[in-house]
Amino acid sequence: MSIRPFAPSDASALTTMLHRAYAELGAAGLNFTAVDQDVQTTLRRALGGQTWVYETDATLCAALAISWPAEASLRSISREANVPKRAWLNQLAVDPEHRRKGLARELRDIGFAWCREQGATSLGLDTALPATHLIELYSGWGFETIERVQWPGKTYESVVMTRSLAKR
Ligand SMILES: CC(C)(COP(=O)(O)OP(=O)(O)OC[C@H]1O[C@@H](n2cnc3c(N)ncnc32)[C@H](O)[C@@H]1OP(=O)(O)O)[C@@H](O)C(=O)NCCC(=O)NCCS
Repeated sequence: MSIRPFAPSDASALTTMLHRAYAELGAAGLNFTAVDQDVQTTLRRALGGQTWVYETDATLCAALAISWPAEASLRSISREANVPKRAWLNQLAVDPEHRRKGLARELRDIGFAWCREQGATSLGLDTALPATHLIELYSGWGFETIERVQWPGKTYESVVMTRSLAKR
C-alpha cells in the first residue's frame, strides 16, 4: 500500500471510491456532496490545493484533499473559512473494505505536514452536525467546533471545526 499525490487521471477512480465511502452517510439521509458528485466536481475539489490517494494493488482505497485556501463557495457562508493562513480539509474518505487500519490517520499526518510547509497556521473543516461519530473523530484529532453553517441544498446543518497547526 502506498500514498501518492493525486493526478488528474485519478479523477474517475476517486469519484467511484468517494461514492462507495460516502454511501453510508447518504443512506443516513445526509446528502454530502461526495455521495453523488460528478467527476468534474472531484477534479475541481482535488485541484484546489493538494490531494493524496492511497493505493493498494493499483486500486484507489483512500483519499484526502486539502483546499488552500478554502473554496469560494464555503468562504461565502463561513466567517471561519476566511481566516488568513487557514487551509481546509476536504474529501476525506476510506473505502469501507479498508477501514479502521489507520489510513485516515496517515493521510491526516501527511496533510498536516503539507499545510505547515505552505505556511498555513490553522486548518478548518466542516461536517454534518448529526454525524456525531465524525465530530468525535475530529475532536480526537484536536479540532474544536467553532461555528455552524447551512450549505444551500443540504438536508443538515454543518459544524465548522478548526485546529491550530502550531500544536502537534
Ligand atoms: C471517517 C473515515 C475517513 C475514517 O477512516 P479510517 O481509515 O477507518 O480511520 P482510521 O483507522 O485512520 O482511524 C482514525 C481515527 O478515527 C477513529 N475512528 C475511525 N472510524 C471511527 C468511527 N466510525 N467512529 C468513531 N471513531 C472512528 C479511530 O479510532 C482513530 O482514532 P485515533 O486517530 O484517535 O487513533 C472513514 O470511516 C470514512 O471514509 N467514512 C465515510 C466518509 C466520511 O465520513 N468522511 C468524512 C466526512 S467529513
